[in-house]
Amino acid sequence: MKTYLVTGGAGFIGSNFILYMLKKYQEEIKIINVDCLTYAGNLENLKEVENQKNYKFLKVDVCDKEAILKIFQTYEIDRVIHFAAESHVDRSIRNPEVFVNTNVLGTLNLLNAAKLAWETEDGFKPGKKYLQVSTDEVYGALEGEEGYFYETTPLDPHSPYSASKTSADLMVKSYVDTFHFPANITRCSNNYGPYQFPEKLIPLMIHNALNGKKLPVYGSGKNVRDWLYVEDHCRAIELVAENGKAGEVYNVGGHNEKKNIEIVTTIIDTLLEMLPTDDPRRKLISHDLITYVEDRKGHDFRYAIAPDKIKAELGWEPETPFSEGIKLTIAWYLEHMEWMERITKGEYQKYYETMYRM
Ligand code: NAD
Ligand code: TYD
Repeated sequence: MKTYLVTGGAGFIGSNFILYMLKKYQEEIKIINVDCLTYAGNLENLKEVENQKNYKFLKVDVCDKEAILKIFQTYEIDRVIHFAAESHVDRSIRNPEVFVNTNVLGTLNLLNAAKLAWETEDGFKPGKKYLQVSTDEVYGALEGEEGYFYETTPLDPHSPYSASKTSADLMVKSYVDTFHFPANITRCSNNYGPYQFPEKLIPLMIHNALNGKKLPVYGSGKNVRDWLYVEDHCRAIELVAENGKAGEVYNVGGHNEKKNIEIVTTIIDTLLEMLPTDDPRRKLISHDLITYVEDRKGHDFRYAIAPDKIKAELGWEPETPFSEGIKLTIAWYLEHMEWMERITKGEYQKYYETMYRM
């Protein structure tokens, strides 16, 4: 039985990954979820598996050296899937320090603990794998409508968030190059789907629209992101952790580039299509809610990833077209209004007021 150490498993992608893996493998695998539960961590996401005997949650900070070492001493870990991170660009512009601590030093701490646990006299125990969950934002931005990020594209991050993720990738690379440490890095485009925290574009717009609040579009609304349904990302991570060639980087993306304004109008139109005709919220939702606001500082213009390598080497392809994924996502939020209400109380209100002032 393989034991997975999943960090950041109470966040958006981490919780989707845990649910996906436990559904697929049932009791054939064990998952240890290490998360310190920042504002973005929510154990409610994992309610349906919390009592399974092959799932364990540990409230631990990835920067805590002793606690992380102890986990590797207590369990024979076969796979590390490192999601834990500060993940929001806007927050990184306001407060970069925590991004360096968690994303860079947390990664180093995890690398050291895995290396210590896995090393033998002549290398590493067979069958072990560390997977760094990274982002296309490490490649910087594409300035025009043409071109893609490849694994060979030079790293050129712009935001404090992407700079911290790049630094973490480089620490992983240094362990591969120096020690032949058995690691992979996946660099994925923007994810969307269930359980995403409403500071990110798609859930923020769904939440605001349902409450008749303005929909804040940064700058011209013409910036482009390449959207991938979260379950497709989870499949890619699973595949790379199992079959990825040690030391390699794999881009993950869906060839689904959209301007931000297209995303916002699609959300409005889809909500109006999906809400029953007698739902009172219909009256609150219209294109008039769209409000152009001050641009994000250093706003990357376009991200577009070429997933050719993962397709050719591992046979991965996205399975969920955007037209379907956005409906699944909106349906999920409509069915989980209480989840959204609980997390948008308190701290979130303060964040929203400081960030948007509208
Ligand atoms: P998220 O913000 O929703 O979740 C992050 C999780 O990490 C939370 O549960 C949080 O409590 C936990 N965490 C934060 N600091 C921690 C610490 N010091 N110790 C332990 N746990 C800590 O993030 P997400 O969107 O699920 O992203 C997960 C990973 O995927 C990140 O590494 C991110 O860079 C990467 N990624 C995200 C996207 C995306 O579109 N969301 C795209 C590509 C890559
Ligand atoms: P976001 O979801 O924060 O992801 P990232 O910045 O990591 O790509 O933002 C996606 C895009 O949407 C980005 O171009 C910024 C834009 N955006 C808005 O226009 N308004 C908003 O309120 C938010 C949160 C994002």
